[in-house]
Amino acid sequence: MDKFVVKGKTQLNGTISVRGAKNAILPMIAGALLVEKGEFIINKVPDKRDIRNLVNLTELLGAKSRFDASEHTLTINAENLSYAEAPYDVVRKMRASFLVTGALLSRFGYARVALPGGCSIGARPVNLHIKGFERLGAKISEEKGYISARADRLKGETIYFDRPSHTGTENIMMAAVNAEGTTRIINAACDPEVKSFADFLNSMGAKIYGAGTPYIMIEGVSALSPTEFNPIGDRLEAGTYLYGALITGGDVEVSGVDPQHIEFPILKMREMGAKIKTTPTSIRLRMRGKPKSINLTTFPYPGFPTDLQPMAMTAATICDGTSYIRETVFENRFSHVMELLRLGGIITVAGDTATVTGTEKLHGAEVMASDIRAGAALTLAGLVAEGKTEILRVYHIDRGYEKLEEKLSSLGASIERTQQ
Ligand code: EPU
Repeated sequence: MDKFVVKGKTQLNGTISVRGAKNAILPMIAGALLVEKGEFIINKVPDKRDIRNLVNLTELLGAKSRFDASEHTLTINAENLSYAEAPYDVVRKMRASFLVTGALLSRFGYARVALPGGCSIGARPVNLHIKGFERLGAKISEEKGYISARADRLKGETIYFDRPSHTGTENIMMAAVNAEGTTRIINAACDPEVKSFADFLNSMGAKIYGAGTPYIMIEGVSALSPTEFNPIGDRLEAGTYLYGALITGGDVEVSGVDPQHIEFPILKMREMGAKIKTTPTSIRLRMRGKPKSINLTTFPYPGFPTDLQPMAMTAATICDGTSYIRETVFENRFSHVMELLRLGGIITVAGDTATVTGTEKLHGAEVMASDIRAGAALTLAGLVAEGKTEILRVYHIDRGYEKLEEKLSSLGASIERTQQ
């Protein structure tokens, strides 16, 4: 297992670009399974472990794929798909594997996929996905930890989500693209990645309207064809670098991202004292002095993203005054708190709210990454901590970042990847 060794008291300066958004590319990989003939090309694909894991799953199902990590293109051909079953061994590594359910059900009228189970950020059930498949006419059964979905022909229906679900919305879109008639999803997830995925499906010949809003309408079509597609830039990776600049008092410009996709975090970074300038494809953040305290609540898009909450909390640990950070999307996304305490952060948690009292300085220690974003936030904390910080279980970070240590080093950080 790898770990990061971070030497503290550095500042991030310079320019950096982001590639395609992981959370848009994952459903696209599953979406390529919908089509019986031809080759898909997805551009701007970063080399992230979650992407490789899902590609491996599609290969296990019989698809042929080629990932050119230097050109960042992924080619998928699902002509010879022979299985409609996703085993637990793969799904447990990455919950997004459950995305193949909608595609397989749509293509074969049958899918058997392991239930993902909980993970370190929460229980994360898939009841909304299942309820949606049932509304479209699928018969669902559950046995030995697997969900089986069957339908001779899916039929368009209106689906109400009790709460917006990102991958739930994507799964239902895939099930509905070939269904008979029209499907409406009400209270759909509005994330830019969901919109980018709908654009991908539309470029295949699907008829999806309203993606990016809470009301999505999908008219079933009889045939889809392969496509070449450019996903949107990764707003969460961009946000990570921007928080890095904010925390270290630096000056960083991130390109390849649409600032409208992270409007709320930009607002909160400005409240902390950052000077931010944007163009349609880049964001530059300059920070001088200590950050100011903030109050922040995570919400589904367009609210403040839960995925940037750990970075915002890291910034709050070194700010002037007391910050209140409330997490409403996942019930357990505070696993970084105990680790920030090890670095000298002053944080108490009551229910869904963390109270963070700014301190003069953090100090280096050994900490553990428990999920992608917590790991990235701890790496940023290491940049400002005095002395040496070691981040264990870097494989979590690799799931969502492409060589984070090299990217941050290119901006002036001192980070090495070594064996744990
Ligand atoms: N939920 C249910 N029932 C469901 C589905 C979701 O109760 O059937 C609940 C979840 O437990 C959670 C909330 O609804 O409390 C929102 O979950 P959502 O379904 O939106 O999350 P997801 O689709 O599993 C995606 C991203 C996550 C990101 C969340 C929230 C992908 C592959 N994953 O997960 O990304 O945090 O949306 O925006 O798109 C990451 O990239 O590090 C990551 C965890």
